[in-house]
Amino acid sequence: MPISTARIATDRADLLRAALLVDGLAPAGGACTFTVTADALELTATAPDLGSLEEIRRTVTRQLDGPSIIEWSSPYGGDSVETTHPVAAEYVLAHCTPADQVLRDLEAETRALTGGASRMQVSHDEGAFLTMLTRLVGARRAVEVGVFTGYSSLCIARGLADGGRLLACDVNEEWGAIARRHWERAGVADRIDLVIAPALQTLRALPAEPELDLAFVDADKAGYPAYYEELVPRLRPGGLIVLDNVFLGGRVLDPAFDGADHRAVRELNAFVAADPRVEAVMLPLRDGVTVARRR
Ligand SMILES: C[S@@+](CC[C@H](N)C(=O)[O-])C[C@H]1O[C@@H](n2cnc3c(N)ncnc32)[C@H](O)[C@@H]1O
Repeated sequence: MPISTARIATDRADLLRAALLVDGLAPAGGACTFTVTADALELTATAPDLGSLEEIRRTVTRQLDGPSIIEWSSPYGGDSVETTHPVAAEYVLAHCTPADQVLRDLEAETRALTGGASRMQVSHDEGAFLTMLTRLVGARRAVEVGVFTGYSSLCIARGLADGGRLLACDVNEEWGAIARRHWERAGVADRIDLVIAPALQTLRALPAEPELDLAFVDADKAGYPAYYEELVPRLRPGGLIVLDNVFLGGRVLDPAFDGADHRAVRELNAFVAADPRVEAVMLPLRDGVTVARRR
């Protein structure tokens, strides 16, 4: 659906929001959402076609006319926005330290054995980023939620400090078997504990103490808020939680996408940004990666 956004700079966004009449703002199957932040009111309008979108924008603009001047963005497809231009993404990928043979073989085998599901695998630049983060925090205790065929696990395991361990959580034994073969080949299998069970169950069984150095979340999106809540209290000060796909292919921007996954990631993104326990940055790497550091 086409969407259009606007940002009104104000330190009283709550008052501006309260002044709006919500009824009547959603003609013809569209919607407009309002996000109150410390220094702005952010507006996102969506509608099935450009005519209805214009109608919503006019209605909102009329209501706010006077206190503010609204400059709407040009309409764009909310489900086709990428964090980076595809050509730039290819260039970025080509200018990382290249993947070694084990990673290349894992990528090829995943494509051959899992078909379309292979799109779930992290790209090499994201994998390299995970290895680097793991090294930078000197991680000895790491957790991964969402293993698939083990690419990101391998990247994290390679970055662990001597004696470090990765707890890798997934529900699929078949994909886990592919992962294990490649971890063996890479010489990291003895550092990874793969647990096949719903991740929430595995995380809840972990000690409550803040001992984790790094956590990477890349599983069912509706589960993200619960994973975050289990993991953040278990991070040591300075430990990192890394969340993948926080952009959901642009759908996170578009209120027309209102499934459980969309709502969970959209709400978690807002929650993380305001969470006093962490400092966070959302990176336009692939489908959006949030890195939050425990204070
Ligand atoms: C996007 S893939 C992970 C990709 C992986 N990080 C990689 O680099 O190849 C998502 C994984 O989450 C797993 N998953 C889905 N629901 C889960 C749950 N409730 N608990 C644990 N794993 C789950 C799926 O089986 C799938 O392997």
